Formats: sequence, structure tokens, C-alpha cells
Amino acid sequence: GLPARVRIHEVGARDGLQNEKGTVPTQVKAEFVRRLADAGLTTIEATSFVHPKWVPQLADAEQLFPLVSDLPVALPVLVPNERGLDRALALGARRVAVFASATESFAKANLNRTVDEALAMFEPVVARAKAAGVHVRGYLSMCFGDPWEGAVPVPQVVKVCKALLDMGCDELSLGDTIGVATPGHVRQLLTALTDEGADVEALGVHFHDTYGQALANTLAALQHGVTTVDASAGGLGGCPYAKSATGNLATEDLVWMLRGLGIDTGVDLDRLVATSAWMAEQLGRPSPSRTVRALSHK
Ligand code: HMG
Ligand code: MG
Repeated sequence: GLPARVRIHEVGARDGLQNEKGTVPTQVKAEFVRRLADAGLTTIEATSFVHPKWVPQLADAEQLFPLVSDLPVALPVLVPNERGLDRALALGARRVAVFASATESFAKANLNRTVDEALAMFEPVVARAKAAGVHVRGYLSMCFGDPWEGAVPVPQVVKVCKALLDMGCDELSLGDTIGVATPGHVRQLLTALTDEGADVEALGVHFHDTYGQALANTLAALQHGVTTVDASAGGLGGCPYAKSATGNLATEDLVWMLRGLGIDTGVDLDRLVATSAWMAEQLGRPSPSRTVRALSHK
């Protein structure tokens, strides 16, 4: 069966904008987040408190967060280490996300750490966040394939998932960073995780659409009981430290499919399309989302 309701974890303002070549003005980012909330999204990842040299596009996190923090939605932010957590807590963030890798190559490229060193870096972050009553999401990148290492074995992914859950993460997001997953592989990983005792309620999926499989993969995850799906308005995105990654699953494409399945998301598709069309104008190129293109040319 399929769930009656899906919670969309909107990542356009973070995963989407972290990869832009040009600089997006802080005011434009703030308007983007506010419009996403107005379209009915209730979990909107706002920015990252990472090293500004590693992700210059999000170097304005201190300026941006206060411009949106009054919104009545959850506004998770990425924090790689205690320095990032301090910055986020100082601004009143109530939800943070750490981000691990299932592969050594990406751990090095993205965090300048081995997998174990990165987990050790997150441990005090998670502990301190939990002690402050802050919700913690644990991202895991390269759950299916890695640009340097190829296909990633399921047991290797399960091991890092367990480490993140044992550390105290409230939820996990299983990342197909470069978009190579297919539905059978998604089923294998979810089956392995639930067989190991992971609560499916604590699992979310994060698909990039490089090979056009993101929606099919999402459906496979929903059939397995997953109810949290990451998506990016207009299909913005990629990852600066994973060259072949394209944008995330577009939120509009997801909402179109879910609406057809009778699954409630609370999102107003017309407002969302208008927001992505507006953002595409700001960025100076059309949205890659098929649904945005279909509905904005009507
Ligand atoms: P490092 O160079 O090893 O840093 O980078 P360090 O710990 O050695 O510290 C060096 C200096 O940086 C120090 O300053 C720190 O204070 C400063 P100094 O003492 O030399 O003056 N520093 C910071 N400054 C501000 N904010 C901070 C911070 N941390 C240290 N938080 C580090 C290690 C983790 C910091 C770096 O690698 C980093 O920032 N990486 C972030 C990369 C990133 O954001 N990637 C994109 C997000 S992940 C993603 O997109 C995948 C996802 O979507 C899921 C999927 O699709 O798979 C989530
Ligand atoms: Mg991503």
C-alpha cells in the first residue's frame, strides 16, 4: 500500500542554491524561502553553516536566516561541525542536519575527513543539539553509487546509517547524490535497513534526477512505507563536491505524482510553479522540471 500523506522536505534553497555559479542575492533567497512557505511547504531547508570557502554561495547564512526565521515552518540548516552548530544556535535554529558519506572518497572531498573522522566530528554536534532540544537529521550521501568508487555495497551503507541512528539522529535522509539509483536498488537498501530494525518512520529519501529515475525511485520508497521525501523546487541543485550530480527531484514533479495518487502534501501546486518560474527568471535559465515547464506555459 501507499501512505496517505507525505512530508516533503524542501531543499531548493540549500541543495539547489549551493550549486549556483552566480551569486544569488540574500534578499532573493529570502523571498524564495518565503514563497515556498506560502505555497504550503512545511519543512524548508534554509541554508548551511559550513565553511564559507567550501560553499561560497551560502556564505550569507548569518544574514539570510534572520530574514526567514519568523516563518511558521520548520527551517532545518546544515551544520558539519561544532563551529557550524554554534553559528546556527546563535540564530535560534531549531533543526539541524549533519551530513555523512557512505564512501571514503566523498567523505574526503566533501568534509576533508575519513568516514570515521566525520562521524567523530558529528558526535558532539548531535549530542549538543539533542541536549538543546534541537531536532537532528542525518544525511547520508552516496548511498547507491559514488563517482570515484562506483556502485556502493548495501552493507557499507547500512553500517553508516546505524552509526548515525546510534548517535541520536532523529531521522535519516538516504542520499543518491549523483542520481544513479534505480527502484530495485532502493528496495534492496530499504529492506536491508528495516531488516536491521530501522524504523521506516525515521527514514527519508533524497534523490537526484541525473538519469531520470528520481520519481520511480520515490514510488519504490513509498511502497516500502517511507513518508519523508526530499525535493527541490524547480529541480534546482547538484553538489559542488560531486561533479556528475544534477538537480534534485523537482518538488513540482513529486507533487504532480502524489496528487495523482491521492496522497496529501498540503502543497498548492500553482503557487509552487509560479515560485519556481520566478526563481528561474532570477537565475536566468529555465527550470529543468517537466511539471514547471508544462504548467507555466499554459
Ligand atoms: P576543514 O578545512 O577540514 O576545516 O573543512 P577545519 O576543521 O580544519 O577548520 C579550518 C578553519 O575553518 C578554521 O578556521 C575553522 O574555524 C573554520 P581557522 O581556525 O583556520 O581560522 N571553520 C568554519 N568556519 C565557519 N563555519 C564552519 C567552520 N568549520 C570550520 N562550520 C569542513 C572541514 C567540514 C568545515 C568543510 O569541509 C566544509 O565546510 N564542508 C562543507 C561541504 C558542503 O557543505 N557540501 C555540500 C553539502 S552536502 C550535500 O550537498 C549532499 C546532500 O545534499 C545529500 C546528498 O545529495 O547526498 C546533503
Ligand atoms: Mg543532495
